[in-house]
Amino acid sequence: MGLNVIMMGPPGAGKGTQAGRFARERGLLKISTGDILREAIREGDPIAVEAKARMDRGELVDDETIVEIVRDRLSRPDAQQGFVLDGFPRTVAQARSLDRILEDAGVGPVIVVDLAVPPQELVRRLAERRICSKCGTTVDPFAGDGDRCARCGGELMQRADDNKDVVMERLKVYERDTMPLVEYYRQRPTFRVVNGAQPPERVAEELDTLVDGAALVADGSPRTER
Ligand code: AP5
Repeated sequence: MGLNVIMMGPPGAGKGTQAGRFARERGLLKISTGDILREAIREGDPIAVEAKARMDRGELVDDETIVEIVRDRLSRPDAQQGFVLDGFPRTVAQARSLDRILEDAGVGPVIVVDLAVPPQELVRRLAERRICSKCGTTVDPFAGDGDRCARCGGELMQRADDNKDVVMERLKVYERDTMPLVEYYRQRPTFRVVNGAQPPERVAEELDTLVDGAALVADGSPRTER
């Protein structure tokens, strides 16, 4: 069984950036609920189109819809080698559902990473973030900046929910609905906090070290890291 990781953190903390890199390097499946929703919206999926109004306001999509998306992805063969969850769970109810899904599937302890970044840095990052207008890919700081999408050549644009008012709402929602999750996971021996307010390569280094340490704990070896 591969590594199973939950990447937590506020909007703009770098969850998608680090989850993408980590999954690529370790041969794991990245499951990003935000990316799945945005892709489904582009494809005109009726449930996702309903969810779009909430996303555009910076609110969370309902737990039931999100849990079903994740349940489906985790049941596919490509998730069996290990996965990185990006942006899920986001409420205590989602975390409880995930615990049940993993228990039913016989998956051992997950490693939970909380990327910590101060609010003013989050606001700055989200104001500057650019995504592809065609395929939705976020410009990757590991790949360097360009004028067009590195994947499909599409024009770059601001994400719909990255305008200042919506960002403020997303930060509020994070504090109200997602911060309690940190307490939900904090007591677990595989919970780690990573300083996300460093250059991406430094975040990656710290994250890799802490995840590898936590993996020893998850496997039942003596705990040597914090
Ligand atoms: P989602 O897409 O998950 O958005 P989010 O959680 O707000 O997170 P972001 O994607 O904004 O940020 P990130 O932490 O991934 O940062 P990134 O790596 O891009 O969700 C969107 C919406 O979908 C939600 O509001 C909700 O409506 C709905 N939704 C999704 N999941 C849900 C769930 N489970 N339940 C209910 N609703 C759900 O980095 C940000 C920027 O910073 C980028 O430009 C990047 O290049 C840059 N950057 C990254 N790392 C660094 C660094 N170390 N230094 C400097 N810049 C950096």
